[in-house]
Amino acid sequence: MRRIAATPFALAIFLFGCGTAPLTRQQLQGMALYEGRCAHCHRDNDLALKKVPPDLHGVFRSAKLPSGAPATDAEVQHAVLAGKGLMPSFAGRFTQDQMAALLAYLHTGLR
Ligand code: HEC
Repeated sequence: MRRIAATPFALAIFLFGCGTAPLTRQQLQGMALYEGRCAHCHRDNDLALKKVPPDLHGVFRSAKLPSGAPATDAEVQHAVLAGKGLMPSFAGRFTQDQMAALLAYLHTGLR
């Protein structure tokens, strides 16, 4: 009996990440954009790029981006809009709201 009763509790911890707040609407929108536009390269490297795209977990936790540029919203936005190396440019592909949502999600450390 105890085991059965513990299951929903464990599930709740799993879903809500050990007591961290659930994602906001904006962060969820950013997550959808990340999953749709970025994850296939940055998580899955599905194009088998020779230069493996850097892992973006905690991209804002370090002071610098993999390229050595400062890890700021402006730099990340620039990398996304201008492209970098093998990464394509997303110029004109995101509205300002979408870009803000994407950055908000990246700031969560990709939960
Ligand atoms: C086609 C694959 C691909 C896609 C799609 C892609 N990236 Fe990248 N990304 C790369 C590669 C490869 C690099 C490494 C570039 C380099 O250093 O030459 C990179 C680098 C970066 C960097 C580090 C920039 C720096 O200055 O070090 C950030 C931040 C980044 N990508 C964010 C994103 C975001 C956000 C998205 C989705 C909007 C995205 N990328 C989509 C391949 C991709």
